[in-house]
Amino acid sequence: MRYPLVLRLIHWFTALMFIPQLAGGWFWLRTMANTDPLKLDALMYHMAVGVGLVALTSIRLVLRLRLHRPETSGLALWVHRAFYASIFLMPVSGFTMVFAARLNDIVFARTGAPLPADLSSIPGHFWHGATALALTVLIALHIAGAFKDRQTIKRMI
Ligand code: HEM
Ligand code: HEM
Repeated sequence: MRYPLVLRLIHWFTALMFIPQLAGGWFWLRTMANTDPLKLDALMYHMAVGVGLVALTSIRLVLRLRLHRPETSGLALWVHRAFYASIFLMPVSGFTMVFAARLNDIVFARTGAPLPADLSSIPGHFWHGATALALTVLIALHIAGAFKDRQTIKRMI
């Protein structure tokens, strides 16, 4: 039995979007000076895509509870649960940073106020990075598991 089409489409779309979102966080946002004028655009893109991914994941979670889909058990079930938990924790720590440093005014309203000199010391930053790391480990486990048991890939394509 395969996953319903709508769940397959959301799975592959979000799977494709999570990888640049994580890579962009570490290799682009993290390394960019807060005085760089491009940083505001980078943050705006990162936050908007992050909120979009969480919204799509919420829709997916509601749909999967209502639609007939294959059963999962064992480690895969726990990896899926941990996926959903960590995906929902990303905006919690993300918005903690937004409100702590008034990033909504600086990034979206473009009030002209400067970004804090160091975002890594603001509340939420540590947990955002830690959850992103957990998500990366889960993705690696998930991909390894999917390729180990090729039969499960057929459920998602
Ligand atoms: C769900 C998807 C998301 C993923 C996978 C993600 C991933 C990341 C990663 C990997 C980093 C770099 C972490 C580090 O420096 O250790 C980062 C930084 C950041 N993220 Fe996210 N994020 C997501 C959603 C969000 C949301 C929804 C917001 C805010 C509304 C947000 C706001 C930020 C901010 C403010 C930073 C700090 C940038 C800096 O240090 O210069 N993120 N994110
Ligand atoms: C090459 C990359 C990927 C492959 C081959 C893949 C493959 C699969 C397969 C075969 C399943 C069904 C597993 C089963 O029924 O036991 C699945 C489910 C799932 N995948 Fe992926 N996946 C990939 C990337 C990702 C990424 C990047 C994410 C999230 C960031 C993700 C999140 C999920 C979630 C949450 C489920 C559970 C679906 C549900 O029952 O609600 N996957 N994936």
